[in-house]
Amino acid sequence: MIVGAQWGDEGKGKIVDLLAQDSDVVCRYQGGPNAGHTIVVDDDTYKIRALPSGIVRGKPCVIGNGCVVDLEVLIGELDRFPDGEVYLSGNAHLIMPWHLAIDQASERRLGKLAIGTTKRGIGPCYADKAMRLGIRVQDILDAKILRQKIEVALAEKNLWLEKVYESEPFDLETVATQYEGYAQRVRRYVADTSLYVDTALRDGKHVLFEGAQATLLDLDHGTYPFVTSSNPVASSAATGVGIGPRRIDRVIGVAKAYVTRVGEGPFPSEIAGGDQDRMRELGHEYGTVTGRSRRCGWLDLVALRYAVRVNGIDKLALTKLDVLSHFDELPVCVHYRTRDGSETRDFPAHQSDFHAAEPVYETLPGWSEPLDGCATAADLPDAARRYVDFVESELDVEVSLVGTGADRASVLTRAA
Ligand code: IMP
Ligand code: MG
Repeated sequence: MIVGAQWGDEGKGKIVDLLAQDSDVVCRYQGGPNAGHTIVVDDDTYKIRALPSGIVRGKPCVIGNGCVVDLEVLIGELDRFPDGEVYLSGNAHLIMPWHLAIDQASERRLGKLAIGTTKRGIGPCYADKAMRLGIRVQDILDAKILRQKIEVALAEKNLWLEKVYESEPFDLETVATQYEGYAQRVRRYVADTSLYVDTALRDGKHVLFEGAQATLLDLDHGTYPFVTSSNPVASSAATGVGIGPRRIDRVIGVAKAYVTRVGEGPFPSEIAGGDQDRMRELGHEYGTVTGRSRRCGWLDLVALRYAVRVNGIDKLALTKLDVLSHFDELPVCVHYRTRDGSETRDFPAHQSDFHAAEPVYETLPGWSEPLDGCATAADLPDAARRYVDFVESELDVEVSLVGTGADRASVLTRAA
């Protein structure tokens, strides 16, 4: 089980790509095309949003019931992997065109209070799921049901779009025809994914779960309301695929050696001044899906300790360590100072305490050597090794993988 330990974009795709080599099945269990997983293979860069990253390794891939699916995006990816073995849950919900329109209109209306979503219709789609108004993948299997569901949905959504958001309504005929076309293309992938994964596990196969977004964007455990509308945390993989929680043997958290966040919301260790721009350039920190500049910060061990707790992280992958080369000094947030002046190592449970939290840093020495020549963890410069050791001892979790560059091969394995 691979889970993002920060605010997303930790490099989960790359770690999944690595571990997929020894896996028989790779599953997504939540989120949709708000995710953008980047995998670099030699001269090719894959940016994947809907399919599990395991598709690049040619592994059977599952899109679980907990996901939301934009058929247009999915079909685009299926076209790029024509031989891909893909199992799409019939219980996953469809992101419909009005979800995109409402996401955009609602962000516009929120103005200064906007969440900074990816505008891919994620929130409105999950809201309809909870409202029991959603359209599911299995609805495309029957043209009559599909058309009826679209009609029912549009009767309400068009009212909202026109009267509340002052946007354009959708035409039933156009949408229905479009989705009948999508249905033809996608129906062969629709499967009972819970049964498929259960059978694979019973057969002794290795199943990898690929989280999208991350812990601090989790609807329940993240920095609400600046979160996504699903549960990226590890335990949600069981619900999002339809297996029992005890089938998950190991949870690997993925954290960047620093922190980034896209969109709005509190971010205690956000860097002030020119170092933030420097880090953004060195790390190419621009959104995969939206192209937005990511906000950059120093590593926050209080937040990471929280991620270890709420996910039950057994091992950490620390990515993009190479980006920290060329900083003379590396502040690492070890505590927060709270409003009453006390210090805490635990993530504040209440929003106002988190908003007011001031990071307390311990400054570690930097290193100037690039890391691309490191073939093993032992080749890391002393200061880089000490940085990783520090993270490990502060969190009391083994850092088993260290990312040292964009390419697929640039991951070092550390012995326990
Ligand atoms: P939504 O998921 O599009 O509703 O966006 C909600 C929040 O989650 C916004 O702050 C987004 O920037 C953030 N977000 C959603 N998906 C990702 C991701 O894959 N990486 C990083 N941030 C994301
Ligand atoms: Mg991403």
